[in-house]
Amino acid sequence: MSRPRLYVARALPDPVMAEIRARFDLTNAPTPAPPSPHQLLEGLAEADAAICTLTEAITQAVLLKARTLRIVANCAVGYNNIDLDAAKARSIIVTNTPDVLTEATADLTWALLLAAARRIVEGDRLVRSGTWTGWEPTQLLGADVYGKTLGIIGLGRIGQAVVRRAQGFGMRILSVPRRNDQPPPLESVWQQTSLQTLLETSDFVSLHLPLTTDTRHFIGTKELRLMKPSAFLINTSRGPVVDETALVSALQAGQLAGAGFDVYEREPAIHPGLIDNSRVVLLPHLGSATTTTRIRMGMMCVENVTAVLKGQPAPNRVA
Ligand code: DGY
Repeated sequence: MSRPRLYVARALPDPVMAEIRARFDLTNAPTPAPPSPHQLLEGLAEADAAICTLTEAITQAVLLKARTLRIVANCAVGYNNIDLDAAKARSIIVTNTPDVLTEATADLTWALLLAAARRIVEGDRLVRSGTWTGWEPTQLLGADVYGKTLGIIGLGRIGQAVVRRAQGFGMRILSVPRRNDQPPPLESVWQQTSLQTLLETSDFVSLHLPLTTDTRHFIGTKELRLMKPSAFLINTSRGPVVDETALVSALQAGQLAGAGFDVYEREPAIHPGLIDNSRVVLLPHLGSATTTTRIRMGMMCVENVTAVLKGQPAPNRVA
């Protein structure tokens, strides 16, 4: 009996690939590198189902060529890379990977916040350079984190997980209400405030918004001007949520002290003004990058594909 045909955009961790090979016939030979637009079209055109990642643009044009496709399982919680209307029009189900990456992404957010505040990367570079001459009273002085104010923009699953970490650091937590936030628990540990107050009073501002037409450049020149010159901006959500050119100008003008970024407007391109700034910590989109988390994400995709191809409801359907 012929098995369902699956397109896998990029090679996932070994246990996931083993499970995939046990259940499906592949229409391509995935590697860790992104497929070319031609490879994406070709692979999808043959497939009953696809597992894609955030780097593949699943546009209307791509979906129109995929005549037998029944599901796109996106191996990410964000799904801004997929044209949901076009998928709906073709009755193609779209799924994502919520929950399993919440804590890993919150951990990485916290690592970036601490690294930016305490100049961890600059310190590491100094030691490795061989030019460190020993302890100095004013060497690489950073910013306090404990007891400071954290502004969280986007109180979904990951934003709330960051709040839990901030509680351990005795922080005052501010947030702004957003339409899609999950209802806060009864005993809220954060204060709701306006965006202006949050930006004016936070020592750290952390972004946890999905990328939509409403949130593109949510943080731009006007918002950055409101931040304290001693404050840090942390972004582990999606790059285009911040206007990077405005951020570079604000950093150069001393409107904020530094930043910690995991995501960029035009990945993998990075604004040269960010590269040049030693008070900015830059990571290569590692939010969910732990072995366990990436295996869980991949397995979730496999289960969604399996369910849909058996005619069952997809556990993590977004459209
Ligand atoms: C996500 O799930 O959206 C992450 O950015 C992938 O690591």
